[in-house]
Amino acid sequence: MDKFVIKGGSPLKGTIPISGSKNAALPLMAASLLGSSASTLKNIPRLKDIYTFNNVIRVVGAQVTFEEDENTLIIDPENVNYLEAPYDLVRKMRASFYMLGALVGKYGYAKVSLPGGCAWGPRPVDLHLKGMEAMGIDISLEKGYVIAKAPDKVEGGTFRLEPSSVGATVNLLLASVLKAKEFTIENAAKEPDVVQLCDHLVKMGAKIDGIGTDTLTIRAVDQLTGIEASNDPDRIELGTFMILGAMAPGTELTLTGCNPEQLGSFTKKLRETGAVVEIDGTTIEVIAPKSLKPVSIKTQIYPGFPTDLQAQWATMMTQADGESKVTDTVYFDRFSYVPELTRLGADLDVEKNTVHISGKTPLTGASVMSTDLRASVSLVLAALVAENTTEVLRIYHLDRGYESLETKLRTVGATIERVDEE
Ligand code: EPZ
Repeated sequence: MDKFVIKGGSPLKGTIPISGSKNAALPLMAASLLGSSASTLKNIPRLKDIYTFNNVIRVVGAQVTFEEDENTLIIDPENVNYLEAPYDLVRKMRASFYMLGALVGKYGYAKVSLPGGCAWGPRPVDLHLKGMEAMGIDISLEKGYVIAKAPDKVEGGTFRLEPSSVGATVNLLLASVLKAKEFTIENAAKEPDVVQLCDHLVKMGAKIDGIGTDTLTIRAVDQLTGIEASNDPDRIELGTFMILGAMAPGTELTLTGCNPEQLGSFTKKLRETGAVVEIDGTTIEVIAPKSLKPVSIKTQIYPGFPTDLQAQWATMMTQADGESKVTDTVYFDRFSYVPELTRLGADLDVEKNTVHISGKTPLTGASVMSTDLRASVSLVLAALVAENTTEVLRIYHLDRGYESLETKLRTVGATIERVDEE
């Protein structure tokens, strides 16, 4: 297993390009199976989760070509002949569960493993299944697998997501665009990843009303065609680097290839810390203030503050002058990074779904353990501002969601090495 060895304390200055979005790419990849011809997807990041999903899609018989140097993925569903997604692949990446909607939506049958656990949880899929049943799809469970059947078109109807769910919205869209005569999703997720998927499906020939709102109505068409499309830039990677740009005095980062519109309330909150945030088209410049003001946040569904930036924000608040609170209303126990930050000298503790932070605490290097994707990148942020050397262990979590992280950080002056832990 690899680890990062990071020598902190050098002020970071320079330009970082933002890669394609992981969470926006995965639904487009699943949607490619719905087409009657090949789709070409551009701006697809070279990430572990993408490679895993490529293999899940290959298992059903589709042809998947990843032109890595061009970040271009070509998916040809022509020869799909095996309508199953096995446990040993689905357990590696929860979004493989999107195969349920894609396969039953296109072929009328799917047998997909229930996703495994997560570093925090529970992360149920009950809304995915109840929504499909409401649509008229027959759902049964067998030895840890979900079997979905809909040989003919189904009536559809209305289903309300409670709570709103990105994954359930994606799966219900995939299942209904070819299958449901008229299906309405109430309290649908409005994340940019969902809007991009809806626009993509319409370009393929689907009929979807209400795009960008929390009420989506889908009317089945008989066929969708493969298309060429370019994937959104990664808004969570962008937010992560904007936080890095604000954390330590003397830091100045220019982030390119962004979509500043996709950060919801995050940018306003970042400015409240005293950080300078200059937006110019698809370029964002962040300059750290001499001292960070403590700013409390509460995560919400889009366009609220993203839960995927919660750990990174709490890490930055250890460097702010004063007390702050970070509350996660989406996931109530996504705080596994807290004991690791404490090892670096931070002063923070968790009470229910809120972490209370007392800053400013100087951080000093130590060995820390990654537990999940966003927790591990938060440990890297902390290591970059800590004095002496920090070892961040088990960075395979990071490789799931941050393309070429050490290369990007080195270009702005970070001292970071990837070392094989053995
Ligand atoms: C997506 O996960 C993202 N993953 C997550 O990003 C992100 O944290 C999350 O949305 C919230 O924004 C991908 O897009 C691949 P949800 P998802 O269904 O779809 C509850 C990352 O770091 N719920 O919107 O699994 C659930 O427990 C990852 O990149 C049900 O109760 O999240 C949670 O409390 C981590 N029943 C809430 O909804 C269900 O059937 C929101 O979860 C489904 C969800």
